[in-house]
Amino acid sequence: MRNIAVLGAGFIGRFYADAIRSQRSRDRLVMVQSRSEEQCISFATKYNVPHRTLEIEAAVNHPDVDTIIVALPNHLHKEAILTCVKYKKAVLCTKPLGRNAAEALSILHAVEQAGIFNGYLEDLVYTPKFLKSQEIIASGALGKILWAKSREAHPGPHSEWFWNKELAGGGAIIDLACHCIEVSRSFIGKDIRPLEIMCWADTQVKPIDAEDHAIGLVKYANGAIGQFEVSWAFRGGLDLRDEVMGSEGTIWSNGFMRTGLEVFTSGQGAGYSAEKAESDKGWIYPIGDELNDLGYNHMFTDMFNALDNDRSPKESFYDGYIINAIMDAAYTSAKSKKWEPIELAIWRGQEHHAKEDLLVSYDDTHWLIKEEITHYGVKKMILKEKSTGRIFERTIE
Ligand SMILES: NC(=O)c1ccc[n+]([C@@H]2O[C@H](COP(=O)([O-])OP(=O)(O)OC[C@H]3O[C@@H](n4cnc5c(N)ncnc54)[C@H](O)[C@@H]3O)[C@@H](O)[C@H]2O)c1
Repeated sequence: MRNIAVLGAGFIGRFYADAIRSQRSRDRLVMVQSRSEEQCISFATKYNVPHRTLEIEAAVNHPDVDTIIVALPNHLHKEAILTCVKYKKAVLCTKPLGRNAAEALSILHAVEQAGIFNGYLEDLVYTPKFLKSQEIIASGALGKILWAKSREAHPGPHSEWFWNKELAGGGAIIDLACHCIEVSRSFIGKDIRPLEIMCWADTQVKPIDAEDHAIGLVKYANGAIGQFEVSWAFRGGLDLRDEVMGSEGTIWSNGFMRTGLEVFTSGQGAGYSAEKAESDKGWIYPIGDELNDLGYNHMFTDMFNALDNDRSPKESFYDGYIINAIMDAAYTSAKSKKWEPIELAIWRGQEHHAKEDLLVSYDDTHWLIKEEITHYGVKKMILKEKSTGRIFERTIE
């Protein structure tokens, strides 16, 4: 059983509290910290939390607390984690780990030198759909993963600090691409090195210094491509979609809207239907179990099981650092308009990963390029002669 302090009593702090207290969990929230007294009281009352404070250090150092969850704005992650290092307490941090790779690296060094447990709270690699997709990929059903695309788009975040480039570290990339990068990276293989990135980013709609829309392509050492699409200018709700293309198959996954539960209402009795939903009347798309479908339950189960069993969770601060490094290179590329290398001060995956040979032999002397049964009932094969390279078609009536 863990005795938990939540630092930050806002949007994500409440999602985390809901998940930890759902399904008769045995882990306990014993402390909440927020800069706002009012938020602290409301959070402590709702979740029946015995202790509350306005000070990060007082929360971390409290004798009843053994595990800290950092759910604070991005500019406070480092300070909060270094306080956990000071008191040698287990720490779980929301995304992004840092506002940039340098900040993330210093956090990683600090927790590893102190030898404290660290978990990176990337919920979207714990959703039931993601976990099932990963299992299917591991079975070999998709063959070699060639391209993994992840999209997160919505009309923009809910608190003022997100919109301040200095406090947040960026715009839609730092806020949303961190999710998408980890989704694609997990599908492609977390031990495959990300090499370089090409990114387009722009401020299309909002009156802010940071980007409100971006698309990036991450090239991996085995030839696979990860793609992210993020926006704070998207209208229509929270669009969470993944696509994976392998040499033997495909997965399309819609994580939030159009998941099969579609409701029409005139608006009578309307209210909250789902995160960032823009309408509560007409056709709406509620989520069956938002906590579970967004991955929070599976994420905390993995984190607390890892803590109890003295092992690393699936997502650690090392992953947070790699993601920050990829996002740093995305910002560089968006400025230079060129492919930019992804600089990794630490890499723990495979060093060399040659592009796999996916050629299919038709017989000893030919490669098979493609076969197809046509609408007029013949089978056509496109073949390539191995010795000469000549490409030709063969038709079987
Ligand atoms: N799916 C996800 O994983 C997810 C979703 C949303 C937010 N987040 C992350 O969670 C963190 C917090 O985001 P949020 O949406 O809960 O923010 P929020 O604004 O809703 O809540 C922030 C909390 O931090 C407290 N706080 C303490 N010092 C503060 C300061 N100097 N400025 C502003 N707030 C201060 C606020 O009082 C509040 O309780 C961010 O790092 C964000 O990226 C993750």
